[in-house]
Parts: sequence; structure tokens; C-alpha cells
Amino acid sequence: MQLATHSRRPESRQTLYRLLLASSLLLLSAVPVTAQTDLTGFWVLRLPTGDGNYHEAFFDLKQAGEKVTGKVLTGFGELPISEGTFSNGKLHLATTLRFENQEHHISYDGAMQGEKISMTVQFPGREPRAGIAERTKPEAALPPPRLPLPALQDVPDNGLARTPPMGWNSWNRFAGKVDDAAVRGMADAMVATGMKDLGYTYINIDDTWQGPHDAQGNPTANRKFPDMKALADYVHSKGLKIGIYSSPGPKTCADYEGSYGREEQDAKTYAAWGFDYLKYDWCSAGRIYKDEDMQAVYQKMGNALLGTSRPIVLSLCQYGHAEVWKWGPKVGGNLWRTTGDISDNWKSMESIGFSQFDIASYARPGHWNDPDMLEVGNGGMTNDEYRTHMSLWSLLAAPLLAGNDLRTMSDETKSILMNREVIAIDQDPDAKPVKKISEQGSTLVVARPLKDNTVAVGLFNRGDTATTIATHWADLGLQGTLKVRDLWAHQDLGAIADQFSATVPSHGVVMITVKP
Ligand code: GLA
Repeated sequence: MQLATHSRRPESRQTLYRLLLASSLLLLSAVPVTAQTDLTGFWVLRLPTGDGNYHEAFFDLKQAGEKVTGKVLTGFGELPISEGTFSNGKLHLATTLRFENQEHHISYDGAMQGEKISMTVQFPGREPRAGIAERTKPEAALPPPRLPLPALQDVPDNGLARTPPMGWNSWNRFAGKVDDAAVRGMADAMVATGMKDLGYTYINIDDTWQGPHDAQGNPTANRKFPDMKALADYVHSKGLKIGIYSSPGPKTCADYEGSYGREEQDAKTYAAWGFDYLKYDWCSAGRIYKDEDMQAVYQKMGNALLGTSRPIVLSLCQYGHAEVWKWGPKVGGNLWRTTGDISDNWKSMESIGFSQFDIASYARPGHWNDPDMLEVGNGGMTNDEYRTHMSLWSLLAAPLLAGNDLRTMSDETKSILMNREVIAIDQDPDAKPVKKISEQGSTLVVARPLKDNTVAVGLFNRGDTATTIATHWADLGLQGTLKVRDLWAHQDLGAIADQFSATVPSHGVVMITVKP
């Protein structure tokens, strides 16, 4: 009671003070010894990614007794907490993420460690991940401000990608597991398999290469990529080119640092490291800018890349929003994604691939529609389905970016990715648009005029049983007797009059060229 006895307060005040002190002591002793922290408030959970970075999730919690309610704020948006309890220092939360028509239940289990919570997160089908949560301010979860955007002005053509880019990209197969060794291995395999000789050129690193920007604001790579310049030199030494990935937002789609506010500095560093290709993915920019801002946001990077004076292909990735095919070339885009992400299954591939014909006429040398990267060889589709995938992408003049592990390809996968005759359709220098010729139930015929008066024709069967599909020369604007070649059988079928018909397997294709 030192405070009270030694104070020089007047007598009445001192009494009041003693009374207050005594009553608060009484109150304290009335609280049961089992009392626990009140978790109400804002928390940030940091989950180490294993490469020196952290993924962050925010919690806005309300506690009443042992019940905890509130929401989790992740890169996917706000998710209400569906189960929440806190008892004897142990926290349990659960939430449901709805993504691509599926429900994913995520649970968070934690134990108090002083003022912090040591937490384990269980995403369905994944290894549990552990991290520490601590109190933070709600502002920490807010996106940074919108940056001033340049007035719209066409970015000069960089002269690259006169035919659709061909190469490999890490995302479909490796996602967050891509590293320096895998990239070098893919460059080696691209040469050893002969893919390079067929035109495959770019070895593209997708998301998760990044570390935090350094004190000078320069981008850095994380532990998985010890020396970006040396890696680029290695890929170049194989006669190949190398690509990198970023976002105009503060965070990429995998929650790594993006180029927000550092566009020019990032472009300069990519050029200094020796990169030849940038995939620029909208992701968290959607929390800052509106769809109407996309053109200006991408223009900024288009100009930043041109400013480096290194030839760098610009790949726009904003999932086909805001009719990007109409303005992609103006911002310096060499290719632009036209859809959401592809997955390695028939449903995903067919719904993307067969929905692209209406915009085919926007593709032209230097500027291509990109219905996403190839899944050929990743194991989720049959070889007939993969042949459909490769044929469709080639008829669409889509970029051919293999998404499988090139080091361990089966002969069948090689025969699909390395079909010289199908690749030639994709790379045809005239880049005339493919057209739907006829559609009946689940069968479909499409055709694309090529140089030298040749026409490529795809007969597709989306149905569940083999079926015969026919096309008349007249439907293709041709007549008489035409020389027909089967591009998957690698066979001349001879001179055929009036029409062609073939039995096409379920989910399969017959692809031919016809020549007067
Ligand atoms: C988005 C893109 C994908 C891939 C991932 C990486 O989903 O559409 O192609 O780049 O981000 O996080």
C-alpha cells in the first residue's frame, strides 16, 4: 500500500483512493482463477511457406463465454467462422471456403502462448501448417491505396511473339514447389527431348519465386532461387529464353509480393537478371483497382518493360475480364488470358477450349488469345483428351506452354506435345482465325485457313461414345477433289472427293489438312 500511505493527497481524497483500491482488489478476487484471455479483437496469423516467406490470414474475433464468432480474412475474401470455441486456453475455429462449386472446410486449432496463439491450420487434403497468431490492428488487413494511373496511350509494339509463344511454365505441375533445380532440369529436358528443335523456347517461372523487396525497393528471390541472374544465364546457355511472374497488386495469387508501386524498379531488375518474358497476374490488384482501371494498370507495366530496352514478352493474366482482347495490344500485351484457370480434367479443358471461337479473330501476330497453359501429360485426362487439348489450342493459335514435368514424359505425352504437324497449325504465319463450320449434338467441325491454300480441319467428339463425323468440302468453301492428310496418324489419306468422314473416339479428335 505504499502508494496510498506515501501520497500527499488530501485526507478525503486519500480515503476515496483507498476505497477504490480495496473494491478493485475485491473485484479481482471475485474473478474465478480459470479466467482466460478474451480473444475479442483483430489477429494476424503468419504461416511460414518454407522458403523464407509467410502467408498471412487475419481473424476478426468476438468472444462470449466459450463461444467465438467472427470471420477469417484471407486472399480469397472474408469467410464467416462456422464453429468457434475457446476453453482452457485452447481455441478451435472452422470455416468453409466455396471455390469452383466445391466446399472446402478449413480448421484452425490453437493454444495460448503468453499473449500469442500457436496455431495449426488444416486445409483439406493438405499437410497441416503451423504458425503464430498475434494481435494486430484492423488496418493491417486493408489493401494499400489506389495508385495514380497514367492516361491511356498506346504502348508501341515490342515486335515480339510473331507466332504464339511456345515453352514451358511451372504452375500447372509444380505450383509452389518450383525451384532453381526444377527450372534448370526443365531447360535440360527441353533440349534433350527435342522440344527445343520444334520451337519450344520459353522456360517460365510462375508464382512463388519471390522474397520480400529489399530496403532499396528492389525485388529479391526467395531461398528456392539463390541466384536469378545465374539461372537466367544457364537457361540462355541452352539456347532458350526465360520467363518470370508478378502482379500489379501488392500480393500475387499465391500471396507472395507483387509489383504494386514498384513497377519500374521490378521491370529493371527482371531485365538486369536477364528475363525475356513476364506474366503479369491481376490477383490482389482486384482489391485496389476496378475492372475499368485494368488497361491503365497494364499499360504502366507495358511501358516499364519497354523502358528497360531488353526485349521482354508481356503476358497479361486477368482471366479475360473487361474484354481484354480489345485492348491487350494497346498496353503492350503479347498475349492475354481469356479465361479462368485450367485444371487437369476434361470438364475444365473442354469448357475452356470450346468456348474460344467467337474471339478467335482478335489474335494476330504479336498479340494472342491465351486460353491458359497446357495440361498434357499431367495425368488427369486420357490421351484422346490430351490430343483434343493440343489440337484445339493449335487451331486457336494459342500459346503452347507445356505444364508437365518434361524430365519424365511418357512416349505418348511426347508424341502429343511434339506433334510437328499440329504445332505447324498453331504457328502458321498467316494467323487466320479458326471458324466453327458445323455443330451437331456433341460433335463439332472447325477449320482454319493456313498459308499455301491449305485448310486445317478438326473433327471433335465431345460425347461419351465413338461416333462418325463428316464434313463436306462445300462447308469449307472448297470443292472437287482434295489432298487429305491425317495429322495424328501422320498419314496421307490420298485425294478425296466432296467430303470427308471419320470415326472419332469419345472426347477425341481427328485432325486433317486439306489441300486443293
Ligand atoms: C492465377 C493464374 C495462374 C497462376 C496462379 C499463381 O491463378 O491464373 O495461372 O499463375 O495465379 O498463383
